[in-house]
Amino acid sequence: MTDALTADGAVWIGHDLPPIRRGGVEYFLLSADGELYLVPNACPHRGGPLKFGRLNAAGALVCPMHGNAFSIESLIANPATLKLTAAPP
Ligand code: FES
Repeated sequence: MTDALTADGAVWIGHDLPPIRRGGVEYFLLSADGELYLVPNACPHRGGPLKFGRLNAAGALVCPMHGNAFSIESLIANPATLKLTAAPP
């Protein structure tokens, strides 16, 4: 497993791990603001594999399919994103 450090300090991890699936949705791991998230591996545009994207100079994740860029904040705010907790709420 390798990590990628974004310009704003978010760490995008696990893009080289086997697929993480829950409820029929594939996710990838993202660490940001001291929290760990499972982000859907489906681009909001047409479902491209975001985990194989790249980070641009602004720290946004660029989809490999058509080149649209998505901020880490928007990925975390996506209602389909799951915030992982160390203990049950
Ligand atoms: S599918 Fe991601 S930019 Fe089109």
